[in-house]
Order: sequence, then structure tokens, then C-alpha cells
Amino acid sequence: MRLSQCHNFHDFRTLAKKRLPGPIFDYIDGAADDETTYRRNTAAFEDCDLVPNVLTGVKDIDMSVTVMGQKLDMPLYCSPTALQRLFHHDGERAVAAAAEKYGTMFGVSSLGTVSLQEVRAKHKNPQVYQFYFHKDRGLNRAMMENAKEAGVEVMMLTVDSITGGNRERDLRTGFSIPFRLTLGGMLQFAIKPAWGLNYVTHEKFSLPQLDAHIDMGGGALSIGRYFTEMLDPSMDWKDVEQMVEFWDGQFCLKGIMSVADAQRAIDIGCTGIILSNHGGRQLDGSRSPFDQLAEIVDAVGDRIDVMMDSGIQRGTHVLKALSLGAKAVGGGRFYLYALAAAGQAGVERALDLMRTEIERDMRLLGCRSVADLSRENLRFR
Ligand code: LAC
Repeated sequence: MRLSQCHNFHDFRTLAKKRLPGPIFDYIDGAADDETTYRRNTAAFEDCDLVPNVLTGVKDIDMSVTVMGQKLDMPLYCSPTALQRLFHHDGERAVAAAAEKYGTMFGVSSLGTVSLQEVRAKHKNPQVYQFYFHKDRGLNRAMMENAKEAGVEVMMLTVDSITGGNRERDLRTGFSIPFRLTLGGMLQFAIKPAWGLNYVTHEKFSLPQLDAHIDMGGGALSIGRYFTEMLDPSMDWKDVEQMVEFWDGQFCLKGIMSVADAQRAIDIGCTGIILSNHGGRQLDGSRSPFDQLAEIVDAVGDRIDVMMDSGIQRGTHVLKALSLGAKAVGGGRFYLYALAAAGQAGVERALDLMRTEIERDMRLLGCRSVADLSRENLRFR
């Protein structure tokens, strides 16, 4: 299978699976416990039908949105994700460049493999910082200062990962960063020599956001251990309030699911919230963001920008979320599989397919702009 034969999320996933060593593919593809939430995230969209209006004159379509003070040419952004260099040697560089081409937002993670300064200096599209709150308060401060100086537009604090999710696929393969593998995991690498060759002949893996501050001891660190040993489970609303004050700009919380928490986010001065269960990778059994969206939008949608991610595979998923009142929608795996499949060209194709789907489906729905989308277009079964 080649890139030109990829027509949707599933095709990219198939190609990524072919290219990546099993443990790395499973790290992207996997989720927590029984992966119930992971499956529900996408299935939730199927419980909601679209009701089109016809003959509305849909020659010109404007799918742009403004969210967190940023104008996006398309309503789907690339959610920040960790460790991208493992999936393709261009990692975050490829994603930033592709997102710029499509006029949308992207992010660099605290666990990013390229420095946020480098990509901020190179591209014009809005950039977010996926921030993890470490036990070391000095490190948190220094990380925020760096991002501020670099001109990163949006701070996106992840609040659903106070401890590592139970990702049993990773436990089985021994997935860790850089690598420490079980015997089975090692075999998986051995049968993907092209990936291995590419990996060793390109820039060395590093975590520039953390390298200067954390001594990984040259050894391997599992994602679970990073969460448990380095992140601060005592983080509370007071800590975040101080961060919001220090950042003094667009600040959103990723992983808000309850109305009470959405209200608290407003109270401490956040400008956005993202309904998310981390793609089903943290608390299995937690509600899907799409199922929870209306409740949150109705409660706080007029006072804070409400976004969502988790489970997005199709243009219609984006349109259903926007119709319910989301200001923009994020996706992770949709571009990660594409990155693994073909680097920047892959991510560009994934964004292009999504843009084409959104545009076509807005026409078929009879909506010329995102403002035309409403709950009138939706019926729940
Ligand atoms: C994950 C974290 C690192 O889901 O975002 O693996």
C-alpha cells in the first residue's frame, strides 16, 4: 500500500502498522484497560444523525473558525502529541509544516522531540504548548518562560494525566523511551529493518523541552514511569491559577469533562477548555467527549471557548461536534498514523482529506459557513 492509496483514517492506520515496529505502533494505537472508552469515542458519533437542508446555495464554503484568539482556516487542528520523532524522523517538524500549509494549529508537547522554539521560529500558524505539570516547580516555571519567549500562542495544560493510564499493550511490549524492550518487543524491531535503519541514520532521539532539566540517567523511561515519578499528582486549582496568571495569555485546560470543572476553569481565568479523555488512553470507562459536549456547551459555552478531541476520524465527526457548539476540534491519531506512514507528505494528505470531507459534507448539509451549523442539523437516536 502506498500513500496515494490512503483515502481515510483506516488506510493511514494500515500503512502505519506496516511501517512501524509493533511496540511503536501499539503505543499510538493502544489505550487504557479494555480500551472501551477508546472505542466509544468514535462510536458516539454514530449515535447522532445528520439532518441536511438542501437548495441553500453552497457554491462557496468557508470553514474557518476563530478559537483561543487564533484564526484557523479549517476547524480541525492537530492536537499536540508526544514522541513524534519515533514515528518518523521529521517528527514535529513535519507536522508543523503540514499544519501551516493548511492554516491550522498544531502543538509541541513537553514530551516533544523537537524544541518548541525551533518550530515557532520557522512557521506562522498558531502553536500550542502541551504542558505537563512536573513536581519540580522550577522546571515548570522555566518551561513556561521558554514558551513565552518563543512566542507560543496558546498554553494547553493537560489535566487528565495526573498519573499514567494502564496501557496494557505497552506493558506487554515493554515500550519505553528511548527503548527497553521485552524479547517479544525486540523481535518486532528486527522484522522492521527499514524503520531501524532510518532511525539510526537520522538525528538522535531527544526531548529538548526536558533534556536541560532532567537527567534520564542515559537509561530508558517508560511513559508510565514519567507520569508517576516526574509529574505532580498534588497539582490542584490553586497551582493552575498561578500558572494562568504567570502565562498571562490564552490558556486552556485539556481534559475537562464536568460542568463544575468547566465553571472552575472560567473562575481561574482560563480562556478555553478541551473536552478530552486523552484518546481513551487514561481513564477507561470515562465518557466520550462527544457524548458530554452538549451539557458543557449549554452550561458555559457563552463564557469560554469549548473544544473537544478524542475519536475524530471523519469530517462528519468534526461537523457534528461543531453543530453541537464546539468552537474547534482536535485530533491526534488521524495525523500520527499519517506521519508514520509518510512523514510530512502523509500529514498533508491526512489534512487534505479531512478538509475535503468537511467541505463536501458542509455542501451536502446545506451549510456555507461554520456559523450555519446548528443543532437543527442533528438528531440523536
Ligand atoms: C500519551 C501521553 C504522553 O498519551 O500524551 O502517551
